[in-house]
Amino acid sequence: MKLICGNSNTDLAQSIAGYLKTPLAECLVRRFADEEVWVKIGENVRGDDVFVIQSTSFPANDNLMELLVLIDALKRASAKRITAVIPYFGYARQDRKPAPRTPISAKLVANLITSAGADRVLTMDLHADQIQGFFDIPTDNLIAVPAMVRDIEKNYDTGNTIVVSPDVGGVVRARQLAKRIKSPLAIVDKRRDKPGQSEVMNVIGDVSGKSCILVDDIIDSGGTLCNAATALLKNGAKDVSAFITHGVLSGKAVERINGSDLKELVITDTISATDAVKASDRIRVITVSDMFGKAIVRTANSESVSVLFE
Ligand code: R5P
Repeated sequence: MKLICGNSNTDLAQSIAGYLKTPLAECLVRRFADEEVWVKIGENVRGDDVFVIQSTSFPANDNLMELLVLIDALKRASAKRITAVIPYFGYARQDRKPAPRTPISAKLVANLITSAGADRVLTMDLHADQIQGFFDIPTDNLIAVPAMVRDIEKNYDTGNTIVVSPDVGGVVRARQLAKRIKSPLAIVDKRRDKPGQSEVMNVIGDVSGKSCILVDDIIDSGGTLCNAATALLKNGAKDVSAFITHGVLSGKAVERINGSDLKELVITDTISATDAVKASDRIRVITVSDMFGKAIVRTANSESVSVLFE
């Protein structure tokens, strides 16, 4: 088995390597003067079972291209099997045609990864479960909920909590968490008038006097979460925290979180933390490296990964 990574999230790749006690394979991932991606695998991979760790996070297109070029280099170097380990799968939000003459870019990206030569995909909390079917190769979609549960049980009093989905689309995910920590469930009915803007309309469920835990797959601009937190407090919640798998946190999102009604935002390390995230006393990062480590070992040994969903 060999582990290899691009530049998108070297911290997570190192943590996975540490968990597996397997060093990352030598690899150069550089740019030509015109920004073309150039890769050189620094050791023999012929006949190896190779796991390429690369999130397609910001800068999404560069990181995607690095992943594709790495897979191509491994294929041409005769790796026996290539698993694309994509902790955060960017482009996942473009999973359907919301209007005429728009692309389904999540499917295009899945095709690119498959055509480059990946044999399998290992990812986490795809924006929509059905994206798994966009890949014509075996795809395991881990969930971050077990890591969130561990953290909540350690740091929160679950006696007075209620799990809240910040929109109707996230109810299944929120229910997974609520069931595990034995909390009731509420929903914020969000209406988004324009892309990039969100508007909270209504809270479904009784949150008064409760400590709310919002759960979602992605925080990008922070609008959805901050507006949901304000709506919950207006509806009598005691306090509001949030657990989100992928901290995309574009633009001024961290500033927005720092000035929001949220008591705490907990994200995982599927996306590399920026300096602003590290400096924020409102944001905490938990690791999912052990989950990826276990999934990699189980894949390499052809064992079931379903234990990781418990
Ligand atoms: C939407 O369906 C997603 O689950 C997230 O709620 C959304 O991507 C968050 O975006 P933002 O932080 O920009 O409101």
